[in-house]
Amino acid sequence: MRFCILSRNPAHYSTRRIVETAEKRGHSVLVIDYLRCTLELGPGGPAVLYAGSALPAFDAVLPRVASGPDAAHGIAVVRQFEAAGARCVNPGLSIHHACDKLRTLQAAAQAGLAVPRTGYAHAGADKDLLIEQVGGPPVILKLMQGTQGAGVLLAPTRKAAESQIAAFQQVGSNFLVQEFIGEARGKDLRALVVGGKVVAAMQRSAPPGDFRSNLHRGGTAQAVRLSATERRMALRAARAIGLNVAGVDLIRSSRGPLLLEVNASPGLEGIEGATKVDVAGAIVSLMEKLARKTRGSARA
Ligand SMILES: Nc1ncnc2c1ncn2[C@@H]1O[C@H](COP(=O)(O)OP(=O)(O)O)[C@@H](O)[C@H]1O
Ligand SMILES: [Mg+2]
Repeated sequence: MRFCILSRNPAHYSTRRIVETAEKRGHSVLVIDYLRCTLELGPGGPAVLYAGSALPAFDAVLPRVASGPDAAHGIAVVRQFEAAGARCVNPGLSIHHACDKLRTLQAAAQAGLAVPRTGYAHAGADKDLLIEQVGGPPVILKLMQGTQGAGVLLAPTRKAAESQIAAFQQVGSNFLVQEFIGEARGKDLRALVVGGKVVAAMQRSAPPGDFRSNLHRGGTAQAVRLSATERRMALRAARAIGLNVAGVDLIRSSRGPLLLEVNASPGLEGIEGATKVDVAGAIVSLMEKLARKTRGSARA
């Protein structure tokens, strides 16, 4: 089969693992940097050009769009592939939702999942009201489009919360205020969902002196057995956002597990290392399944 991976960096562990696994199974894989794609719409229909040339047809496309400033371009490319009739493992609209922490929590809450108390308001809003909405200090402040822990702050006091909110408002950033789940003691859970199954799960622990467990910030990971409730939550969160491949983050609070966020392009290095599960293999199997469906429907 002929697969395409939309990824900024072919040398990245996750991309490399998926390419190697697919090639070992006899597939051909093209890794495309979505920032080098140009999109064309007109009499010839929607097309994606790569470095100025037309791309061949693919049996399945795996988007690996990083959240951050370039996500919007990546999502536009995914949607163009969809418009041109390609089968994408994760839909562009779902990636768009996953890149927005507020949208993710809204979809999760709509699906009946428990989420931390969270407040959002327009830039000019009353700071105290926002802080009180989530139960008062200590509170967490989060950039809506942050990733890898970089946009997540802990405000231990009202004064700290007010000045951090003022700073976000000053630069016009969209942010959330959230209750601080102190009882998690710097730990959270990452469930890797592939094709409607939790294929691997790890618990991440923050490095000393931090409350953020992101592996990019020096957090450590170990395999974990999820409770039935946690497993169900992870699956329902991925489904609510519409993702076939998702890294679902949960936090264990005194009132049970809460959904933190959903990642549409979860990293594989940490979870494969901690759990020894072949997550890349599960993703390639899903691509094969998707491709067979496409071929079947093309014949029909
Ligand atoms: N409400 C919270 N209470 C306690 N810790 C939190 C809370 N929200 C996030 N964290 C910690 O901060 C980390 C990063 O937050 P997250 O919402 O996942 O943002 P990012 O997209 O930057 O990873 C989480 O993995 C978790 O360890
Ligand atoms: Mg996270």
